[in-house]
Amino acid sequence: MSDNGHQNVTMITCTAPVNIAVIKYWGKRDEELILPINSSLSVTLHQDQLKTTTTIACSKSFQEDRIWLNGKEEDIRHPRLQSCLREIRRLARKRRNSGSPTSDVTSVSHKVHICSVNNFPTAAGLASSAAGYACLVYTLSQLFGVDGELSVVARQGSGSACRSLYGGFVQWKMGERSNGTDSVAEQVAPESHWPELRVLILVVSAEQKSVGSTSGMHTSVKTSDLLTYRADAVVPSRMEEMIGAIRQRNFAAFGELTMKDSNQFHATCLDTYPPIFYLNNISHKIISLVHRYNQHYGEIRVAYTFDAGPNAVIYTLQEHLPEFLQVVCHFFPPEVNGGEFLKGHPVHSSPLSEELKRAINLEPTAKGIRYIISTKVGPGPCVVEDPDLHLLGADGLPKKNA
Ligand code: DP6
Repeated sequence: MSDNGHQNVTMITCTAPVNIAVIKYWGKRDEELILPINSSLSVTLHQDQLKTTTTIACSKSFQEDRIWLNGKEEDIRHPRLQSCLREIRRLARKRRNSGSPTSDVTSVSHKVHICSVNNFPTAAGLASSAAGYACLVYTLSQLFGVDGELSVVARQGSGSACRSLYGGFVQWKMGERSNGTDSVAEQVAPESHWPELRVLILVVSAEQKSVGSTSGMHTSVKTSDLLTYRADAVVPSRMEEMIGAIRQRNFAAFGELTMKDSNQFHATCLDTYPPIFYLNNISHKIISLVHRYNQHYGEIRVAYTFDAGPNAVIYTLQEHLPEFLQVVCHFFPPEVNGGEFLKGHPVHSSPLSEELKRAINLEPTAKGIRYIISTKVGPGPCVVEDPDLHLLGADGLPKKNA
C-alpha cells in the first residue's frame, strides 16, 4: 500500500483469476443475496494468461465513490457493486469496533476510486465478472484491512466470483441458511496439486450475443423441472465424486464428470421455457471431436466444458496436449493472416498421424475457431507490490492506458 504524501491518497493494486466450473452453478434460491440452488466446483486458471487488475485509492479529499472499467467510467450505483462496497465497509467497521490494532481507523468513511482492467479482450466472451468482482472484493479487503469471510462478499457481486478468491480447485458450498453466511467458497486442492493438468480455451466465432447468466438462470429456475431434478438428485453426489477424482488426480473420472455436467447444464437450458441456446454448430463439432478422439484411444484423454456461450474450455494432461492441439488445428484450420492462433502458454508441436485423422473422420471447418488460449491451473488473488503498476495516478484518476 502506498500513501502519496500531501494528497493523502492511500492506494493498493491487486489481481484476481478467472475460474471455469466443472460442476456448474445455475439457479438461485435467493436473488438478492445470490444464494445458489446447488453447490459447484471450479478450476482457477493461471493469471499469466487471464486476470483482472484493480487499483483502489481512498482519500479524505474524494467527493464520491467512482469506478472505471477497462478505460470507461461506469455507474457506481450498480446494485451488485453497492452490495460489495457496503459489505466490506460493514466488515471493516466491525473490525475497527472490535479494536483490532492493524485496521485503518479513518479510511472506512472515506470515498474510494476504483479502476479495473482485464488482460484479455472482453470480446472473447469469457466470463469476466467472476475475476472482476473477486478482484474488487480482495482489493477492498486489503485497503481496509479486512480478513473475514470474503467469499460471502464476492458472492454478492456475482455468484461465480466467490470461487475466484482461491487458487487451484475450489468448491462453492451452497449452504442452508437463509442469510447466506454458510454459502461460501473453499479450496479443495491447491494449484500445485495436479501440475500436469492443462487448459485450452477455444474461442469460437459467434455472431449473436447470448442471454446473460443472471437472466438465463432466473428463467431456468422458474420453468425447468430438469433443473430442479439436477439440483436435488444429481449435483450432491457429483460433487462428492468430483472432489474424489481431483484428490486422486484421476483424469478419466474428472473428465467424464466434467463433460456430463456441462451437457446436463446445457440440457437444463434447452428445458428452460422459452429455451436458451448457448452452444452453436462449432461447439457441437468440438464435442464430437473430443468424443471421437477419446474413442480412438479407448480412454478419456480430453474433456470439454461450456458456460453461457459457445466457447469450449478443454481440460487435458500435458502428455496429450501437443497432439490434441494439432487435431484441433487440423479440423478447424485457422484464418490465414488472422493473427496469432495460439496465445498463452507455449505448446511444442507434434505430428498428426493419418490414422488418427481418419478415425476422427470429420469435415474440416475453416475459421470456426478464432483463436486458442493455452493455460493451466493457477493461484488465487495477489497483491501487486510495484507502485508503478497502480492504475490510478497520485491524483486518484486513471493513468493514461488504464
Ligand atoms: C454458466 O456467476 O455469472 O458460468 O451470480 O447471476 O452473476 P450471477 O451469475 P454468474 O453465473 C455463472 C454461470 C456459469 C456456471 C459457473 O460458473 O458455475
